[in-house]
Amino acid sequence: MKNKKIHKIAVLTSGGDAPGMNAAIRAVVRNAAYQNIDCVGVYRGYQGLVEKDFIELDPRSVKNIINRGGTFLKSARSKDFRTKEGQEKAFQNLKDQGIDALVVIGGDGTFTGASVFSKAFDIPVIGIPATIDNDIKGTDFTIGYDTALNTVIEAIDKIRDTASSHDRLFMIEVMGRDAGDIALNSGIGAGAEEILIPEEDRGIEHLLESLHKSRKSGKTSSIVVVAEGDQIGQNINQLSEDIQENLPEYEVKVTVLGHIQRGGSPSCYDRVLASRLGVSAVDALMEGESNVMVGTRQKKIVYVNFDKTIGGKKKLDKELIRVADIVST
Ligand code: F6P
Repeated sequence: MKNKKIHKIAVLTSGGDAPGMNAAIRAVVRNAAYQNIDCVGVYRGYQGLVEKDFIELDPRSVKNIINRGGTFLKSARSKDFRTKEGQEKAFQNLKDQGIDALVVIGGDGTFTGASVFSKAFDIPVIGIPATIDNDIKGTDFTIGYDTALNTVIEAIDKIRDTASSHDRLFMIEVMGRDAGDIALNSGIGAGAEEILIPEEDRGIEHLLESLHKSRKSGKTSSIVVVAEGDQIGQNINQLSEDIQENLPEYEVKVTVLGHIQRGGSPSCYDRVLASRLGVSAVDALMEGESNVMVGTRQKKIVYVNFDKTIGGKKKLDKELIRVADIVST
């Protein structure tokens, strides 16, 4: 499997962090060692490439991190790397260190930077999808998503206790700027009465009608899960005022879960996914691949060209919407 052109690789994490990034770095470093190639970590994503903020990594330097949330390499959104000068500096820094290839761990923005850089400087780059949003086309799951879901349902379960004690309606905002995966799945998992997602705008009338109906059916408290990117839910405080006006029998409260969703020890699922994708990224480089994301489709490892994933939208799972509608009645 040995690719004779690759002797040393660099790995970085970029964009919003996600639980399991450390497990992915660990797998990259250990497969690199397994294949007798050197590995360098880059601090603070692409900014560290521009500033030559590197650290040599060997299998022992990634011990005891599989269970840790966040990313020990740190993450950043680099303005410098968007410029031609910044990219030239980054390439020169890689060359100075004898680095032949790059593994980037992150989301859509991370892959966009990787693709531009790889094409401009003819350097092999492999992407590993890691974002709690699960909004990357071409892979069924992204690293961090499962952990975030578990964090969210734990929080909603707690809110349900107090909502039920006080006969209140809670609007709970979860992350997902462009995607409703967290809202839809956590909403079903936590038994929410309503779920608002950016992929399907049913309008406020539908929401009010549905809440009225469930109140009439005997429900005395309600949970509405709102993805932050949803059209009518974007201003959750305004929406809660509108609901309060229309449903005076409820006391409406708002909880924004925020960045708590990005932290915490990764779930077993995310640790295994991160380990598989980290190993696959180095395998892909050894097989001579470049400009691809490693992902999973129906449990199998797949390589997806950056051009086929960047900017792409995943299809909404209509079956899940139907399930949510039925089980929330
Ligand atoms: O990690 C993805 C995401 O959580 C989005 O859902 C959210 O809008 C965004 O990151 C916020 O990230 P930050 O606060 O780091 O800009």
